[in-house]
Parts: sequence; C-alpha cells; structure tokens
Amino acid sequence: MPLILVEAPRHVGVGIRPALHRDIPRVLEIERLAFGGQWDYYQFRASLEDVFLLAVDAASGETVGFLVACCCKIARRGIILRVAVHPDFQGQGIATQLLQESFTTLKKKDLDEVELDVDIVKNGAMRLYERLGFRVKELFSPDMEGEESFHIMRRKL
Ligand SMILES: CC(C)(COP(=O)(O)OP(=O)(O)OC[C@H]1O[C@@H](n2cnc3c(N)ncnc32)[C@H](O)[C@@H]1OP(=O)(O)O)[C@@H](O)C(=O)NCCC(=O)NCCS
Repeated sequence: MPLILVEAPRHVGVGIRPALHRDIPRVLEIERLAFGGQWDYYQFRASLEDVFLLAVDAASGETVGFLVACCCKIARRGIILRVAVHPDFQGQGIATQLLQESFTTLKKKDLDEVELDVDIVKNGAMRLYERLGFRVKELFSPDMEGEESFHIMRRKL
C-alpha cells in the first residue's frame, strides 16, 4: 500500500442552502467550537423561521459554517446575528460566501439595508465586513459612562 504523503486539500468548494431542523446538531457543534456554545438548541430552532443559511462542503456534504439573520420589516432592515465557520475551514472565503448569499436572501424580502449585530462587530473581523461593503454608522454605548461601546456597521442592500 503506497504511503500518502500529502493529503488532498479538504476544501474543494462549498454550496449554500437554507438550514433544516435535522442540521441543528452539527450547527451546535460548530457553535461550540467557534464560540464555546453561547446559543442553544431552542435559539437555533427558532432561527429556522428566519434567515438561517448553511455552508456545505461539496465533497463530503458536511456542514462547515452557518449564518443566522432576522428581519425587521418596520425598519426595513435585516440584522445578521451570527456567522461561524468550523475552525478547520476558516480563511477559505466561506464566511464571505455566507454573507453574500444572505444579502441576496434579505433583498428578496424587500429590505433596504443590513446591520451586523454587536456580537459580530465585537469579534473584530472588521476588514472582512468592510470588504463586503459594511461601514461604521454609529458608536453605541449600552452604559451611561460609555465605558463599553461598540460600532454599528450597516450596508445598503
Ligand atoms: C469570523 C469568521 C466567521 C470568518 O470566517 P472565514 O470563513 O474564515 O472568513 P473568510 O475566509 O470569508 O474571510 C477571512 C477574512 O476574515 C478575517 N478574519 C477572520 N476572523 C477574524 C478575526 N477574529 N479577527 C479579525 N479578522 C478575522 C481574516 O483575516 C480574513 O481577512 P483577510 O482575507 O483580509 O486576511 C470565522 O473566523 C469564525 O467562525 N470565527 C469564530 C466565530 C465568530 O467570531 N463569528 C463572528 C461573530 S458572530
């Protein structure tokens, strides 16, 4: 049996599709690896009613990332609540693909703009979001002293 010296690259391309109930266990696994498991089963189950996209590895059919967004029809705005990519698959443009697909989905819902939830901005991948057209619109301070403040990032759809 010949020795395999170099493994074939794991990433051969991903497809994006809406999440289904049966996908939640794998999403929880990625959530745990990416964030230490802040969101639970019930939050993800409720997200199935809104915008909940998965990145699926074309070669293995395995889910490698997800994005959750909600729609505020009154403000005509979508809010991206969560984006995560399995650590083995980061840095390959998967979050970019998920975000781009979410813009298309939110636009079809007749919304005008999209905002990143503060948790996402706090994570600090600003360059990624700016490259996708997000711009800092406001500085948000939840406490009176302004000790903890976050940038609000928005983009037109
Ligand atoms: C942030 C995250 C979703 C990016 O996914 P990804 O598929 O690796 O992203 P892409 O390959 O599309 O883009 C990579 C870009 O994001 C940047 N980036 C990724 N994570 C970053 C971080 N934590 N801080 C700063 N920049 C980051 C990379 O430097 C790269 O930018 P560059 O190409 O200019 O160097 C992924 O790293 C992740 O799941 N992190 C843990 C969960 C998280 O923090 N999610 C966001 C808050 S909800």
